[in-house]
Amino acid sequence: MTTAADTAADESIHVTVLELRWEAAGVVSVRLGPEDGALPGWEPGAHVDVVLPNRIVRQYSLVESAPDLRWYRVAVQLDPESRGGSEYIHRFLRPGQQVRVRGPRNHFPMPKHGPLVLVGGGIGITPLLAMLRSAQAHSRPWSLHYGGRSRGTMAFLPELEPYRDRVRLWPSDETGLPPLDEIVSSAGHDSTILACGPGAMLDAVGAAVARSGIPEERLQVERFKARPRPPTVDAPVLVRAARSEREVLVDENTSLLDGLLRAGVRVSSSCRNGVCGTCEVAVLAGVPDHRDDVLTQAQQAAGASMLVCVSRAVGGEVTLDV
Ligand code: FES
Repeated sequence: MTTAADTAADESIHVTVLELRWEAAGVVSVRLGPEDGALPGWEPGAHVDVVLPNRIVRQYSLVESAPDLRWYRVAVQLDPESRGGSEYIHRFLRPGQQVRVRGPRNHFPMPKHGPLVLVGGGIGITPLLAMLRSAQAHSRPWSLHYGGRSRGTMAFLPELEPYRDRVRLWPSDETGLPPLDEIVSSAGHDSTILACGPGAMLDAVGAAVARSGIPEERLQVERFKARPRPPTVDAPVLVRAARSEREVLVDENTSLLDGLLRAGVRVSSSCRNGVCGTCEVAVLAGVPDHRDDVLTQAQQAAGASMLVCVSRAVGGEVTLDV
């Protein structure tokens, strides 16, 4: 029998909403499980696509799962600018309803060794909670700095209570913003800093790391929203789809992803915004013009892969393994 766990990452699994639980003001967690069988295994930092009944697809980091993978838990913050994802979940999604999940995928993996310095802001706590539980279970050194507007808006505080000696809370109405320079410079030389939260916080962590002289590769960040980018004037790109044996001329107003899909070349996608990593494809020839928020600077410089929903090609030509 095929179980949910046998499903490929870009196939969707039907799951039922088992529970909705308020975690903080504006944050609800959702427990999702298949009718029978187990869900695919996952590692801390992974996210799933949730396909809602209104057909909107959103990505949510996995907070936890049942030991036998009979359910996943994700957490959703109500976005005042919601375009139908978080608003739908908060207002309309209820236990017993069916949704679909795809994945999990992980573009924010925990390093295998060494101490962890976790820096979270707001709903960015979700992947970090899974990481600290894993680190704790494996007796790895870790610490967490967790900021939010106020304690009432900060999810999962009861879950963090047992780790009081390793967790520093920064509710800004009480403490002000976390002292990022101090936090970064006190990280041990073998530590990895993993940060997840609002874009402004992640930019500030990146700037603190740059000022500290700590090598950039010791910082890993996950963004939920794409960084604002200056407007660009794009040129057409000739994409050679090697496996499909197709050449596709993508005009300047069309993403490489849409150009390939319209030409019948199969490419997985989800956010279409350069933040989820689903559309990453291998580059066989050519130089990508990277515009995503997933690949590290080192990965972008290597040019071995690109995210075709947002990135284009230097020189107007690229050959992809699709
Ligand atoms: S579809 Fe999400 S990064 Fe391209």
